[in-house]
Amino acid sequence: MLILGFESTCDETAAAVVEDGRTVHSNVISSSVKEQALYGGVVPEIASRRHIEAVSAVAEKALAGAGLGIADIDAVAVSFAPGLIGAVLVGVNYAKGLAYAAGKPLVPVHHLRGHIAANYLTHPELKPPFLCLVASGGHSHIVAVQDWCRFNVLGRTVDDAAGEAFDKVARTLGLPYPGGPSIAQAAKSGDAKAYRLPVPRVEGKYNVSFSGLKTAVINEVHNAAQRGENINVPDMAASFQERIAQILAKKLLAAAADTGAKTVVLAGGVAANGRLRQLVNDGAQKLGARVYLPELKYCGDNAAMIAAQGYYEYLDGNTAGLALNGLPTLGIDYR
Ligand code: KG4
Ligand code: ZN
Repeated sequence: MLILGFESTCDETAAAVVEDGRTVHSNVISSSVKEQALYGGVVPEIASRRHIEAVSAVAEKALAGAGLGIADIDAVAVSFAPGLIGAVLVGVNYAKGLAYAAGKPLVPVHHLRGHIAANYLTHPELKPPFLCLVASGGHSHIVAVQDWCRFNVLGRTVDDAAGEAFDKVARTLGLPYPGGPSIAQAAKSGDAKAYRLPVPRVEGKYNVSFSGLKTAVINEVHNAAQRGENINVPDMAASFQERIAQILAKKLLAAAADTGAKTVVLAGGVAANGRLRQLVNDGAQKLGARVYLPELKYCGDNAAMIAAQGYYEYLDGNTAGLALNGLPTLGIDYR
């Protein structure tokens, strides 16, 4: 089954053709991230305008790249929640129009379910049940993936998302947006033990919190400035990355140990972080669990992951009519 997927929940306009949830025939991404970087973060209005400009060309390129026409496609999948609503609506309306005009089923896909499905593109043997940490710019969840379309959230952030923490700390340190890659880069030449950053206390065994960590970095920067000193940016980047990666890995592995999970998976933009990948890999092996990490090119927002999850949503009977709306917030565990 060939699915044409669309993604437009943040600053990437993307379309992709994926067969049976596993085989990528094309994967096209047009990103406004360079323009957004001028403002230090995503400006929703700019994101929406770039989606409008790019979506038709991206769709055509995805079909052409797969050597297919719209008539060859079996269904159109679209990321309909959660996200910046003006951005989401561009993809949803385009997908609706295309599905209607071509007489194809329309499949709504939850963006975070898509991030998890990014793993199916690289690991043909991976299937639920498994335990997954989904960490992106907007969300940080520890999720028991019980079945393709059944999710149980065991833990979540009580304040900032992990990616958001990377982005805010990067800005504090004068590093460019997006913060995750720039902190990882700066950390390469830093000493992760240079700054002692706090381990946040949080209620709920598998919940995480990052706002205290972010504040601790801001305080260090201000205190240094008051002393007329400069913070050592690579050292702080390394110390912060180490702390946040330790927190995420520890919570995920604790949940894996407690639930007896045999398989542990990472997903979302933050899953690109090398230190996090290493800690989860090492820790899960100690537990005797298998580890699956998404390929770097599928960690960030893309439409192949939406088409992949779209396949399983379709098989589960989750299609939508033309009244489909975009939703800015919706839990991954909706049914
Ligand atoms: O999943 P994603 O591409 O978009 C959302 O759904 O939000 O995640 C973007 C987030 C950004 O906050 C970015 O700073 C972070 O993922 N990120 C990283 C890395 N690459 C991207 N965080 C840590 N380390 C990285 N290498
Ligand atoms: Zn995302």
